[in-house]
Amino acid sequence: MDIAVVGSNMVDLITYLERMPEEGETLEAPEFEMGCGGKGANQAVAAARLGSDVLMVTKVGNDLFGQNTIENFKKNGIRTEAVEVGTKTSGVAPIFVDPHAKNRILIIQGANSELTPNVVEGYKEKLKEAKLIILQLEIPLETIYKTIDIANAFDIPVLLNPAPANPALDINYVTKCTYFAPNESELGILTNMPVVTLEEIKEAAQTLIDQGVQNLIVTLGDKGVLWMTATQSHVIEGEKIQAVDTTGAGDSFIGCFAHYITKGTSIEEALKKANFYAAQAVQKRGTQLSYPTKEAFLHY
Ligand code: RIB
Ligand code: NA
Repeated sequence: MDIAVVGSNMVDLITYLERMPEEGETLEAPEFEMGCGGKGANQAVAAARLGSDVLMVTKVGNDLFGQNTIENFKKNGIRTEAVEVGTKTSGVAPIFVDPHAKNRILIIQGANSELTPNVVEGYKEKLKEAKLIILQLEIPLETIYKTIDIANAFDIPVLLNPAPANPALDINYVTKCTYFAPNESELGILTNMPVVTLEEIKEAAQTLIDQGVQNLIVTLGDKGVLWMTATQSHVIEGEKIQAVDTTGAGDSFIGCFAHYITKGTSIEEALKKANFYAAQAVQKRGTQLSYPTKEAFLHY
């Protein structure tokens, strides 16, 4: 096994609209797409499509969507032995994408809230086989901490993607992760600092490094990626492309980065590839629907 993802799965209900309706207004939107999403599942799918052997630890809903999600994992070649059916309904994400490819996302956790520390503890022996464990914040924080403890005990590197932002995230656990990868707005929320200019972003990033974060990877959308450690700071330029739907772009980046890192690629090279992969995903509609396979991934 290459990668274990301990995280969420959701059903994405994506409405493409001209503008959001006002209060009390009924508005017709031009288009709608439904697809499998959830940050954990998205990252697992991106890595698996590139050829990684991925284990998914997640709780799907006790409904038709849940069964569909399991089928989707299988179709993407993801190991499902640690996918459990919860008692709640599936996690869902109503998403609104405007004509500028910008999105607004609501998430309802559903069964994802049932992925407790105990559930993860039960898969300890399987997790032991992973070269990298990936985490996001769409499951309970206690489960994240538990997984980091397990990973540390087995000396397995952790890639923590703090999305969606949660100011309650314990920095002590963050420093136990080899890679910490927020986007610029998550960095702003975590540090409570302005993150508009690159200078501000670097200053906010530095405060995390000062607190002991190991490899800080800040995704900056079309502006690229900032990679900072205690000894260096490096910006990888963004790709100049025409985006149509940025939903799940961050997840495609994380999945691709994880894939290359576990293949022994250097951090800088893996970041460049991930940047390129995400740029390709935003040029198509949908979340997982837009993630290239190994064959379709056009290398730079
Ligand atoms: O990051 C994008 C994802 O966020 C969507 O797939 C949606 O399900 C939410 O989890
Ligand atoms: Na997309």
